Amino acid sequence: MNQAEKIKELKKKNNAVILAHNYQLPEVQDIADYVGDSLSLSIQAAKTEAAMIIFCGVYFMAETAKILSPGKTVLIPDVQAGCPMADMITAEQMRKLKAEHPGAAALCYVNTSADVKAECDMCCTSANAVRVVREGLKDRNEIIFVPDRYLAAYASAQSGRKFITWEGYCPIHAEIFPAHVLSRKSMHPNAEVLVHPECRPEVISLADRVLSTEGMCVRAKKSPASEFILATEKGILHRIRKENPGKKFYPASDAAICPTMKITNLERIVNAFENREHEVILSQEVMDKARISIENMLRY
Ligand code: 13P
Ligand code: SF4
Repeated sequence: MNQAEKIKELKKKNNAVILAHNYQLPEVQDIADYVGDSLSLSIQAAKTEAAMIIFCGVYFMAETAKILSPGKTVLIPDVQAGCPMADMITAEQMRKLKAEHPGAAALCYVNTSADVKAECDMCCTSANAVRVVREGLKDRNEIIFVPDRYLAAYASAQSGRKFITWEGYCPIHAEIFPAHVLSRKSMHPNAEVLVHPECRPEVISLADRVLSTEGMCVRAKKSPASEFILATEKGILHRIRKENPGKKFYPASDAAICPTMKITNLERIVNAFENREHEVILSQEVMDKARISIENMLRY
């Protein structure tokens, strides 16, 4: 029996569901029940009837699944799978920032720890940040937006709101530069340019559309274009090519690889099942507080 077949059996035996982010290794995406962006995976985690969730992504995503499904066992195959951007702000720094701006609404990107979410009024993902600001926080005079300065800059440009920001960023998306996109565009002049909002504003200004990873998958199917340049992590190419065999996809940068998104592999997933590793454990208090900010987001 190969590892994929073994995982299928273990999944049945444990009444488990496997959720995988769009940046996961191709073989992990292929054995997952759902592959998606942070928002769609949160929604799947909230509504699954399985008793166990194996989360193939990075740690904050597994925490979000646990917060939304507190009665379920949530396992992350490797605890080293963190997100460097999420690590750029701590709960203590968030508390200090709030104390410096009393009365401001606290908005956090989903790429934050559960402890930081617990300090915030509202959460957002790359798919809904603009809407959350425009609709969810329209009555608030001041808004703190952490930790991604580039997503905040994009949401600010789209909503016309100014934010109190944090100097966080994604080290992978921040290394995609306009020259990468322009060089690809010179090779493929008819390609549609899809850019993730974690990119720098100078890269965003070259976009035909600014989208979450799920948004890119949806757009690729709907668009009349037959070629696309994707300014995001390269892992998305597997799913998007599989779903659109007649179309061509080029990464803006060949170097755009998130190392922690590649830690999870089939062997570690088997180990997660067999040794019940590694269970995501959060305090009741943090879960209850963080759930408010996530549920406030899910209303939009
Ligand atoms: P998405 O929610 O768009 O998939 O983004 C998550 C992420 O970590 C991007 O780097
Ligand atoms: Fe975090 Fe960037 Fe990796 Fe996404 S691509 S998980 S934001 S480091």
